[in-house]
Amino acid sequence: MNKNMDRKTFLSFLGTGAAALAAASAGLGALDGKASAMSSTADHLFGFKTNKVSGYFEPIQPSKEDTLLVPKNFKYDVVAVFDDVINTAGEKFGQGADYNAFFPINGSNTRGLLVTNHEYTNIFLLGPVADDKMTAEQIKQNLYYQGMSVIEVFRDEKGTWKMDTSSKYARRINGTTKFDITGPAKGSAALGNATTAVGTFANCSGGVTFWNTVLSCEENFTETAVSAKLPETHYGWVVEIDPFDQSYRKKHTALGRFNHENTAMGIAADGRVVVYMGDDKKDACVYKFISKGKFDKLKGRSNSSLLEEGTLYVANLKSGKWLPVTIEEVKKVLSNEKYKNPYGISGTKEDLLKKFKSQGDVVTFCHEAALLVGGTPTDRPEDIEISPFDNTVFICHTNNDIHGNIHGHITRIFESGNDLGSLEFDFEIFAAGGRQSGFSSPDNLAFDSNGNLWVVTDISSSSHNKGVYKPFMNNGLFVIPTSGEAKGTALQFASGPIESELTGPFFTPDEQTLFLSVQHPGEMTTDLSKPTSTWPHRSGDKKARCGVVAITGFKLG
Ligand code: FEO
Ligand code: CA
Ligand code: CA
Repeated sequence: MNKNMDRKTFLSFLGTGAAALAAASAGLGALDGKASAMSSTADHLFGFKTNKVSGYFEPIQPSKEDTLLVPKNFKYDVVAVFDDVINTAGEKFGQGADYNAFFPINGSNTRGLLVTNHEYTNIFLLGPVADDKMTAEQIKQNLYYQGMSVIEVFRDEKGTWKMDTSSKYARRINGTTKFDITGPAKGSAALGNATTAVGTFANCSGGVTFWNTVLSCEENFTETAVSAKLPETHYGWVVEIDPFDQSYRKKHTALGRFNHENTAMGIAADGRVVVYMGDDKKDACVYKFISKGKFDKLKGRSNSSLLEEGTLYVANLKSGKWLPVTIEEVKKVLSNEKYKNPYGISGTKEDLLKKFKSQGDVVTFCHEAALLVGGTPTDRPEDIEISPFDNTVFICHTNNDIHGNIHGHITRIFESGNDLGSLEFDFEIFAAGGRQSGFSSPDNLAFDSNGNLWVVTDISSSSHNKGVYKPFMNNGLFVIPTSGEAKGTALQFASGPIESELTGPFFTPDEQTLFLSVQHPGEMTTDLSKPTSTWPHRSGDKKARCGVVAITGFKLG
């Protein structure tokens, strides 16, 4: 049994029985995985060098309260919420806080830049939208409050995390910020020959690169693009920004255009960069991009050009193969005399041949191209993380009611020869949502250096505390060991306020602080005088505010 974990709580969570006892006595941190298979270049991304224990705590019970609950001996500070001023220019923190990434300033674990994604807006910004049609002012606000924030944060002498609004780095990136387009769709017909794009929005999760920049993923972009009369093909990409350099902004079309959830970057055995990605839609695919060139640490940020040229692959789960999503393959499939539309594809062969003429078309209409070449439709692939211990790849398949997969599961991919550059793999269902595991609808993931996966859940607000979702109550944050006897056992670490989703878990390198977003509390509110949540409960404030907290209380050793 582990240090600080209360046995009774643990057992009551698991249910009693021999299996539960065995799991409980095995402890959480017992790693049987191989020690790091990653190169030293990747270690900093996972806190591997720190080797600090961050998984020991007394699990909490599910909750329906309008509170962010954390375990005994832990606390959280609200760092920034929707509409807070972030800099001397008076720019405001966006809404719909999602992915977070912390970048130490001068190696500090108590001062750094925090990059936060802003995925969407809601009634607490826009007010009611009449007949689903936004006014000109609402369209403007909708563009302003999505995108990203870069803020400077620090931990004061009393141990409280705060925002430093005097920061020279703090800024907004949003629906009006200009980006350079790179890769095969740059200047292509599918993008109206554009080489730049205005704005990023629907920024869901993301990832950090080996050269200290952030990749941010445009997920459900359609509504915002259509309402603002912006060209839809300019959105749905992976964008890259440098927190320390505001002039650096790119959209990388080689990574494909779909409902991007996140990116997980790793290195192939031969030094090429590999980026795993999920398309968060029912019956959509899992992808990986492999760069043409190799990573060279000495080249710093110019390694970014690796994301401009390479091959995009889609997973076929039945054959265990990564299949190239290229114009050559699409044409080959369509030229077959026996061609029949695969599941998910409509239109005639002639229409498809007209649509797909170049690699620019393939990356722009990526989901269709992926299905044509044999990609397996899956159950809403959301976050992906690569284990820093054994190079296995964890994917949250959130759920998919079309197939009766109500609670989702976490898939684990084993690349052939442990090589992320391999084109063959096997997989297992690492953990499944449901009564037996205590969680439902897994979404974002993060690893700690003890080999535990930190998993947030995304039961949609309209289902909270209803039907088969009842026992899970509000969305939460769970810790799941990836090895040892307790492998796959979920322990609840946090519970979000009413109608919220916890998103963007991200540890400081010393794992003393966990940044976490509280997204869309009170989102089912229809009457602003009767909000269903008022988190973070600022005095006199009737607005529920999405935002970022810093959780502390982790013990070392
Ligand atoms: Fe934005 Fe797929 O969650
Ligand atoms: Ca998400
Ligand atoms: Ca989600």
